[in-house]
Amino acid sequence: MSILVTGGAGYIGSHTVVQLLEVGYDVIVLDSLVNGSREALHRVETITSKSVRFVEGDVRDRPLLDRLFAEYAIDAVIHFAGLKAVGESVEQPLAYYDTNMHGSLVLCQAMAAAGVYKIVFSSSATVYGPDAPVPYIETMPRGSTSNPYGSSKSMVEQLLMDLSRADERWSVSLLRYFNPIGAHPSGQIGEDPQGIPNNLMPFIAQVAVGRRLELSVFGDDYSTEDGTCVRDYLHVMDLADGHVASLSSHRQPGVHIFNLGTGQGVSVLKMIKTFEQVTGQSVPYRIAPRREGDIDAFWADAGKAKRELGWWAKRGLEEMLRDTWRWQKNNPHGYLSVK
Ligand code: NAD
Ligand code: UFG
Repeated sequence: MSILVTGGAGYIGSHTVVQLLEVGYDVIVLDSLVNGSREALHRVETITSKSVRFVEGDVRDRPLLDRLFAEYAIDAVIHFAGLKAVGESVEQPLAYYDTNMHGSLVLCQAMAAAGVYKIVFSSSATVYGPDAPVPYIETMPRGSTSNPYGSSKSMVEQLLMDLSRADERWSVSLLRYFNPIGAHPSGQIGEDPQGIPNNLMPFIAQVAVGRRLELSVFGDDYSTEDGTCVRDYLHVMDLADGHVASLSSHRQPGVHIFNLGTGQGVSVLKMIKTFEQVTGQSVPYRIAPRREGDIDAFWADAGKAKRELGWWAKRGLEEMLRDTWRWQKNNPHGYLSVK
């Protein structure tokens, strides 16, 4: 079976491509490289000893998509391509709606024209909104979103639901990721954010490797055990396996929504302490003001994925942190030196 992976040169995409190749899928990656790396795909080939067909291009480019669907017998699409920085989305809403919303629309149009009706979409726990009770469960309605990034995810979910309602040939998986961290155990591929990292894990890793002086912990007065925010961090390899599981098990058409998380909440301070214990590296930090828009605590109810996909997060926090550190230590500047 051949899978088109949009955004496959990015963080989650590259790890998913590894797992797809390992179980025997043929993979075609479409990526504009706006935030991905060709080197990541070379390393994917080294890890798997298999080849990846790579097409550099934009998911909004309809003629290109038509050529791809005509050239390759594509059975399904995993759609990672998108912009993902929450703060940037507030400053550049047009860019975010264009890439995330319009890009998904063009992709679906090209899929329908080519008769490909199976799509796995990268959604986010952010669609539950700030007022949802924890743990988040798929039966809850989507909530309000406070930034264009979150709104674009919610809108694409709605688009795919409407498509499925209008045409029962569509088979749609909406995978709501919690907080992916970690790296492939080889240390060859991992998360390589451009500029100053927005997210906690890459920031901790860059402080530990000496690229940044200290971590700012955004707020210690939340209503959590130690006052810092609590999230459900899951290993990117588990997340990759979740995509493989959702491709192989949802054979019925319709919309299938799955939370992909561990079901465990971990605070920012616990992340720092556990990272220090596991790696032996110190992570200097200071308490800083709250970051706008942060929710105090959320984690997944991941029971549905276990029941229906036979998927659950198998790798624990220490493994996530060890693998992050192996990647960062081996590649202090990410893929930069070979880009
Ligand atoms: P990433 O930025 O590493 O990967 C996204 C990839 O898409 C990049 O390689 C980028 O070059 C590519 N891309 C962007 N715009 C494109 C376009 N117009 N055409 C073709 N390619 C394009 O991000 P990631 O962390 O791997 O996230 C993958 C997906 O998962 C995104 O849709 C993101 O919103 C979603 N997601 C991520 C997280 C997270 O914490 N990382 C959480 C929830 C959801
Ligand atoms: N944090 C810090 N210092 C930092 C960075 C983060 O203290 O330098 C804190 C944040 O305040 C938050 C926690 O670490 O309490 C986690 O923050 P991240 O930015 O790593 O993750 P978020 O939960 O804010 O958001 C991530 C993705 C979103 C996605 C969401 C749910 O960035 O795209 O998970 O999937 F929507």
